[in-house]
Amino acid sequence: MAKPPIGGNRTGRKLGQKVKKGKLKASSRRWIERHINDPYVQRAKLEGYRARAAFKLLEIDEKHQILKGAKRIIDLGAAPGSWSQIAAKVTDSTDEDVRVAAIDFLEMAPLPGVKILQLDFLDPDAPRQLIDAVGGTPNLVLSDMAAPTTGHQKTDHLRTMHLCEVAAHFAVEVLAEGGHFLAKTFQGGTEKDLLNMLKQNFRQVLHIKPASSRQESVEMFLLAKGFKGRRDGVANASVDEDGFARDPREFDEADEAEE
Ligand SMILES: C[S@@+](CC[C@H](N)C(=O)[O-])C[C@H]1O[C@@H](n2cnc3c(N)ncnc32)[C@H](O)[C@@H]1O
Repeated sequence: MAKPPIGGNRTGRKLGQKVKKGKLKASSRRWIERHINDPYVQRAKLEGYRARAAFKLLEIDEKHQILKGAKRIIDLGAAPGSWSQIAAKVTDSTDEDVRVAAIDFLEMAPLPGVKILQLDFLDPDAPRQLIDAVGGTPNLVLSDMAAPTTGHQKTDHLRTMHLCEVAAHFAVEVLAEGGHFLAKTFQGGTEKDLLNMLKQNFRQVLHIKPASSRQESVEMFLLAKGFKGRRDGVANASVDEDGFARDPREFDEADEAEE
């Protein structure tokens, strides 16, 4: 487990603070209160991470060791950049020898050792640009992409699931054998076809809810470990690890370890 969140006053700020009623809408006030009282936000400040999201990745890694041995990493939906900060550190990436490529349509402040693309990942040219930027075959593809909220929950959910799906297909196109794929998804939201595709291409597929992911949020992470590699340059679409055609309906729940 990642270290538990700090008590509150090491950043000079106490937990349990209230924001004065004023011109702010009640929902905005509640958001600010939750943010300033969030121990992970305070710990991120203290440890120099750009976002509390850092602890989700660190926590997942502590249990599943996906960062160990990572040589090149692609970070999808990277802004403000806490996952890229971790990625640059574990790969010893430098501006002279870049090993991390990050993409976001939002502007992201520069980070040493990280090639940042300000671009929509759904742009048809994004995959090529990412591969050029990372300078070799990646063995870890991370995606924390979440679609901008529209206020319509179902639409937001479907859009984020679509991003997860496109990211998964990208991962099987680019990963080195033995590599891993980690992506944000939603509780109950992973499509059966996507899970089947991942199970065909990776040795293990898991759903994870890290403690640092807010309990009230439906956010989950999908981790696919141990990429089996491409045969003749093509990822597995419908064959098992022995190369036999496999009916997707044959997959049983035992294939999928849920956490
Ligand atoms: C939760 S934030 C990522 C936080 C990041 N992992 C960190 O540690 O700082 C999700 C990001 O996904 C980005 N995003 C959503 N859809 C995208 C797309 N189609 N292309 C690129 N970035 C996208 C958003 O702009 C947002 O910055």
